[in-house]
Amino acid sequence: MTHSITLIKPDDFHLHLRNGEALKHVVKHTARQFSRAIVMPNLPTPVTTTIQAKDYRDEIIKGLDGIAFEPLMTLYLTDNTEAHEIEYAKQSGFIHGVKLYPAGATTNSDAGVSDIKKCYGALEAMEKLGLPLLVHGEVTDPEIDIFDREAVFIDTVLTPLIHHFPNLKIVFEHITTTQAVDFVRSAPANIVATLTAHHLLLNRNAIFTGGINPHNYCLPVLKREEHRQQLIKAATSGSEKFFAGTDSAPHAKSAKESSCGCAGMYTAYHAIELYAEAFDSAHSLNKLEGFCSIFGAKFYGLKTNTETIELTKESWEIPEFLPYGEEKLIPFRAGENCHWQLK
Ligand code: DOR
Ligand code: ZN
Repeated sequence: MTHSITLIKPDDFHLHLRNGEALKHVVKHTARQFSRAIVMPNLPTPVTTTIQAKDYRDEIIKGLDGIAFEPLMTLYLTDNTEAHEIEYAKQSGFIHGVKLYPAGATTNSDAGVSDIKKCYGALEAMEKLGLPLLVHGEVTDPEIDIFDREAVFIDTVLTPLIHHFPNLKIVFEHITTTQAVDFVRSAPANIVATLTAHHLLLNRNAIFTGGINPHNYCLPVLKREEHRQQLIKAATSGSEKFFAGTDSAPHAKSAKESSCGCAGMYTAYHAIELYAEAFDSAHSLNKLEGFCSIFGAKFYGLKTNTETIELTKESWEIPEFLPYGEEKLIPFRAGENCHWQLK
């Protein structure tokens, strides 16, 4: 008999949809599986104002061609974000968080924050209004080893930050280390974390197996197996502090397979199926619904979805590539089998 499970329709609490042509190729992949997604604001022109977020939201909705899906918009925090912009954002009703990219940390982060102290006015407003700060938690100091950047960020930025703003709601995004798991677990309830499917499924060997694998390069970079095991433990623990955020980040094949390849894995095509695989391998499928469909919504003050989806334990082959305009988009684990399937 085929093994199947039914879940409340999930939400993706960290997603890159891009804009223009790229957006049209990816948005329906997410909408097929998820009801809503927190949409990252790191476009080539960052989404720093409520007006820009409204235009971007309209573009996303247009790209859906009538498919039901709610984009949960975010603002891009800069050194110059003012408290009144935060107030507009909150009043809009469609902006659900403000993203902190340390300047230079990742794709389109040049306009990010150079010193968190410059953002204290905005952060104070966010704390007061209950608008969450979504954190890319890596220091950018080139002296710091790339595998230690998350842990150093906890000590040098996050710990002082929560001290200064004890009631600020913070999502520590795409955590990758034991240190981050421990930090979030022992922090108060207003500090939570998202976990990606790729960090649950792969360790850093995947970047180098049989040669360099640019499609397994993302930021924060994959870590050692012992860290991956702690991520699995956190995700499957049933703690409301840990929930799904894919960080699916499309880049054209040519931009990935380059002498200086872009960071990002494209998991949106099969994200829920990948999460199911990760939970199944930890014998914890009974914990998948809380992680994908309940805890994140609760943290963001959103209603739990009412629809359901069904997943069956059936293998299918992940395409070698997906259409991406003139280019190709290589999905996570292209050409390999996925062991769960969305009906
Ligand atoms: O791998 C990543 N890709 N990490 C990020 O933080 C950004 C993302 C992107 O936008 O491509
Ligand atoms: Zn991201």
